[in-house]
Amino acid sequence: MNVGLSTLILPAGDAAVAEAARTLEAGGLVAFPTETVYGLGADATNPAAIARLYQAKGRPAFNPLISHVADLAAAEKIGRFEGEATRLARAFWPGPLTLVLPKTRDCAVADLATAGLDTIAIRVPSHPLARAILHAFGKPVVAPSANISGHVSPTTAAHVQSDLEGKIDLIVDGGPVEVGVESTIVGCFDSPMLLRPGGLPREKIERVLGRALLQAPADEVSDSAQPLAPGMLASHYAPRTRVRLDATTIAPGEALLAFGPPVAGSEHAAAVMNLSARGDLNEAAANLFGYLRALDARAAATIAVMPIPHHGLGEAINDRLRRAAVGRE
Ligand code: TXA
Ligand code: MG
Repeated sequence: MNVGLSTLILPAGDAAVAEAARTLEAGGLVAFPTETVYGLGADATNPAAIARLYQAKGRPAFNPLISHVADLAAAEKIGRFEGEATRLARAFWPGPLTLVLPKTRDCAVADLATAGLDTIAIRVPSHPLARAILHAFGKPVVAPSANISGHVSPTTAAHVQSDLEGKIDLIVDGGPVEVGVESTIVGCFDSPMLLRPGGLPREKIERVLGRALLQAPADEVSDSAQPLAPGMLASHYAPRTRVRLDATTIAPGEALLAFGPPVAGSEHAAAVMNLSARGDLNEAAANLFGYLRALDARAAATIAVMPIPHHGLGEAINDRLRRAAVGRE
């Protein structure tokens, strides 16, 4: 149904923001930058728009979406904030944190967006363009990452274009994103639970809480029909090329995704990209998805990935790499 649309691409600016708000109001699909990755936005209160969104991404409709709002006051209209949820929102919004909360009784977000759950995922992004669009539109915007379902998330407008041109109405180009991995998702249940590691390091959240986050049970973070964070399907962030993790050697024909000083023999690799030559995890996160896309395009037999430390943004980087390495039939 969407195929054959002509996709308008606008540079960041007032005209793009106004066009984005108009398009959302009309039930259209708008890709825009957030600080984490580019999102594909639709009016969260419009089931027909959300149905188009699932279709454009090729995403299963049992996988619920994050509602993006401009501020905590707007968030409180759709989610029930208590104790620690309010504390986390005050500490980290706007920013790369998504909270999963009970829905309010009069929540305006369509059931299709929450896949019939009685909880809702909410986030207040910090990117100025995302904020401007949310302010101009004035209603919640559901926005999954702006890629074909199962592909690597987009960190530039060009990535969005290569996945979704002809299937969506508008792409707002705000240049490369800053963080590079999706938001951290915390379930605000009896005790806060880490549902997806992401752009806000666990350590920072635990410092505010004064204790450890609970860990989502391993089998919830897989291919079951109703997992806690249902988008955490085992092979969610996959390039086409086989991915080999924790590589300390490199075989002929392999492409190398390095971190820090490259492994010996890297000069014989089919291609080498270094996530961060100086070993900086923030820089590595920002480069991760773009480099995976670039190496995937080299048609090497395998992408060998050097070990990445697990602290800070390393937890999210390792999570996405593990998913990229899961074989698909
Ligand atoms: O950084 C981000 O979060 C980006 C930008 C665009 O904001 N968005 C993003 O959305 O990553 P998406 O759709 O790719 O991932 C949303 C995740 C999925 O794993 C989904 O299952 C989970 O949030 N989710 C949504 N609603 C949920 C709920 N009620 N309970 C548990 N998990 C939920
Ligand atoms: Mg995604």
